[in-house]
Amino acid sequence: MVEVLALQKKDLPIVVDVHLKAFKGYMNAALGKQYVYAFLQWFLEDARALAFCAHHAGRPVGYLVGAQLGYDADLNKKLLGSGVIAILTHPAIFFHPQFVRNIKSRLNLLLGKKKPQTSIQFKEPEGVGISLVGIAADPHSGIKGVGSALMKAFMAEAKKRGYRYTRLSVYEENKIARGLYEKSGWKCLNKANGVLYYYYFLDEGATNSN
Ligand SMILES: CC(C)(COP(=O)(O)OP(=O)(O)OC[C@H]1O[C@@H](n2cnc3c(N)ncnc32)[C@H](O)[C@@H]1OP(=O)(O)O)[C@@H](O)C(=O)NCCC(=O)NCCS
Repeated sequence: MVEVLALQKKDLPIVVDVHLKAFKGYMNAALGKQYVYAFLQWFLEDARALAFCAHHAGRPVGYLVGAQLGYDADLNKKLLGSGVIAILTHPAIFFHPQFVRNIKSRLNLLLGKKKPQTSIQFKEPEGVGISLVGIAADPHSGIKGVGSALMKAFMAEAKKRGYRYTRLSVYEENKIARGLYEKSGWKCLNKANGVLYYYYFLDEGATNSN
């Protein structure tokens, strides 16, 4: 039986381990424990954020974090120090394909090159939305239904807080996560550079103006 509760500071050390196992090979996991801890902690401290922890037999086995769209400027600012330390203490990150891609696209922007076009021309819906920023289940727990239980809690809380829609991004090749999103009723409405953007409209009146 999976129980979803608000994420608490005492859960963080185990939840960080869950993240490192679930996102093995991803850039943010390659930045190390301290960075992931600082990343997750932000969602405990910001009023526009929400954070859930899934427990099984009294132990954290998964987490979900989200925040009101527009959250990233503040998160990036708060993570700057941890990010610099993480890069300096994990120099292998310079060869990580996601890191190289990020640097290239930032350089292109600095050099005034055009942003790559999204393949579907999609306008953000009107009204205030909330982003599902991260979700993970412990890959070694052997328990099914962790992701679904976290998703259910997220959707209920987003609705309760009055958001009009939810949004997330996922790598196109992440078929398992996409399965969870599609089963939960999310629709892929945009795509750019191998990243898919999924949306779920919480209120009938929330539509994009296309
Ligand atoms: C995505 C993730 C959170 C799903 O959690 P989970 O506990 O495995 O999910 P559930 O057991 O509730 O399964 C929900 C759905 O996910 C998909 N899914 C889960 N495990 C799967 C597997 N091994 N193979 C294929 N699809 C799978 C299915 O669509 C499943 O629905 P179903 O049971 O009706 O077939 C988990 O796989 C994970 O942590 N992945 C790594 C981190 C990640 O990629 N996060 C998302 C980044 S955007």
